[in-house]
Amino acid sequence: MAHSHAMPQPAALPGVAKIVAVGSGKGGVGKTTVAVNLAIALAKTGQQVGLMDADVYGPNVPLMMGSSQQPRVGPGNMIQPNLTHGVKTISIGYIAPGDKPMVMRGPMLHQIIRQFLQQVDWGELDYLIVDLPPGTGDVALSLVQTVPLTGAVVVSTPSDVSLEDARKALEMFAQVNVPVLGIVENMSYFRCPHCNEVIDIFSRGGAERTAKQFNVPFLGSIELIPAIREGGDRGLPVALAGPKSPQAAEFYGVAEKLKEQADAAAAAANDVIEIR
Ligand SMILES: Nc1ncnc2c1ncn2[C@@H]1O[C@H](COP(=O)(O)OP(=O)(O)O)[C@@H](O)[C@H]1O
Ligand SMILES: [Mg+2]
Repeated sequence: MAHSHAMPQPAALPGVAKIVAVGSGKGGVGKTTVAVNLAIALAKTGQQVGLMDADVYGPNVPLMMGSSQQPRVGPGNMIQPNLTHGVKTISIGYIAPGDKPMVMRGPMLHQIIRQFLQQVDWGELDYLIVDLPPGTGDVALSLVQTVPLTGAVVVSTPSDVSLEDARKALEMFAQVNVPVLGIVENMSYFRCPHCNEVIDIFSRGGAERTAKQFNVPFLGSIELIPAIREGGDRGLPVALAGPKSPQAAEFYGVAEKLKEQADAAAAAANDVIEIR
């Protein structure tokens, strides 16, 4: 009973079955890319999916999803998320667009995270994917204080510096009793388009070894390819091409493994509640 000594669990979001945070220690490792492509892959394989941009200082979800519409506020003051590529999406970038940095104190940040969870009309969701900012700070804490997370996905490149930060993220999730559903190795390797030779730019395999060390699942590797970057920049993530597309297939593989882990974690969490 992992939760027996923990802080009181916050109330679940009605209608939302599983909440999965995507985090890492470092910026630039592909958290948002993974979050966006996983959300689309899950939606395209029949799940009801929401995507919450919790990177309040650097919201990249609007650009990567190709959506910028200002959300409407509906009955009961509920914010209507944008429906983009089959995914219900919310971002501070929809509400306060522009290039000016958001300067915020802690309490305001906590307030935004709470509103994005509780004051957005998510409806019935199988998955709410939360794109975290880099680091192990305030936003992740606000999240776990507001809703029970099904678990977290940690994204890392295979380089030692990225893995060092990923380990911190793993430790943070352990401290706040959030199960780690798995590690994704992004920018795992590069295949030369001319000679087809595979080049391990960041030293392939490091994230899988880290997963073993920490006894957490390894969800898969994502190739470093221009199409992934281009898809993000154009608001048309590669996952839109479907599981048969060679450029998107790895995301679908990760989504499949994530589903297994999330289902297992959700079932285990229910057991804990029933034991009480
Ligand atoms: N596997 C990949 N192949 C090519 N480019 C990638 C890949 N993953 C991420 N990128 C690019 O790297 C940059 C950083 O990714 P991003 O998802 O914004 O990282 P983070 O959210 O961790 O800061 C973006 O320009 C993105 O398009
Ligand atoms: Mg990001």
